[in-house]
Amino acid sequence: MQKFITLAQIDEAADEIRRRISTEPGVGMILGSGLNGLADSVQNPVFIPYTDLPHFPVSTVIGHVGRFVVGELEGKPVIVMQGRIHYYEGYSMGEVTLPVRVMHRLGVHSLVVTNAAGGVNADFAPGDVMLITDQLNLMGMSGLNPLMGPNLEEIGPRFPDMSQPYDRDYCALARAVAKENGLTLREGVYAGLSGPSFESPADLRFLRLAGADAVGMSTVPEVIVARHGGMRALGLSGISNKANLDGSTVTTHEEVIEAGRVITPKIESIVRGVLRGM
Ligand code: HPA
Repeated sequence: MQKFITLAQIDEAADEIRRRISTEPGVGMILGSGLNGLADSVQNPVFIPYTDLPHFPVSTVIGHVGRFVVGELEGKPVIVMQGRIHYYEGYSMGEVTLPVRVMHRLGVHSLVVTNAAGGVNADFAPGDVMLITDQLNLMGMSGLNPLMGPNLEEIGPRFPDMSQPYDRDYCALARAVAKENGLTLREGVYAGLSGPSFESPADLRFLRLAGADAVGMSTVPEVIVARHGGMRALGLSGISNKANLDGSTVTTHEEVIEAGRVITPKIESIVRGVLRGM
């Protein structure tokens, strides 16, 4: 296994998908832990398990299915990742973000990313949905940027701008859709950590001081790779648990999945509304 993913590998995986589909998806979606129900509503679905694709890592987390679903949502051709790949599973950053590269080569111009996250902002409660307006790349700051290694010049520049990781027009659209649907939409900064251990009280106090509103173990690398290729991103966090700044409660994967049941319908109506308005 080479250390970094090459354009040839990306294209081999993209070609395999292209052989199986008859639509040209413009919107890619990555659905997070406990939030992947939306993939079941895709119309005229073609299912492509990651295990069928060359160079693809296989998601190993409970609550993640591990396949692309290609079809239509709200009349728009979409490619949905039902189950994402996390860095903590032991894959390289290149492997974690390979699906985003592949989507880009398939012609995807916009990426909708959802995740389950811990609420760092004191005003957030489990069950809330947060529009991600910016991100803290803590993985990248510690040397785990997905763009490390030879730059893929055909896709984007060596030093890509990251002044607007989340598209402002899509943020405005999401706010409008939430309002129309009578949903409270929180907003804020998502901090991406590698996991898999949840944060200690000191980690969480640090994150709050650093300006984070929510914390999770995904999304940031995917959005960096999307922006590298010029894709526009929309991010939504389902707040599954409250940050435990004094160590008085515990956080479990089960509660993250359980909160997904409350959050999924909210995220689904926002994503559907945004798709209609895109
Ligand atoms: N921390 C990190 N990732 C998470 C959390 C959390 O509290 N909840 C869901 N994903």
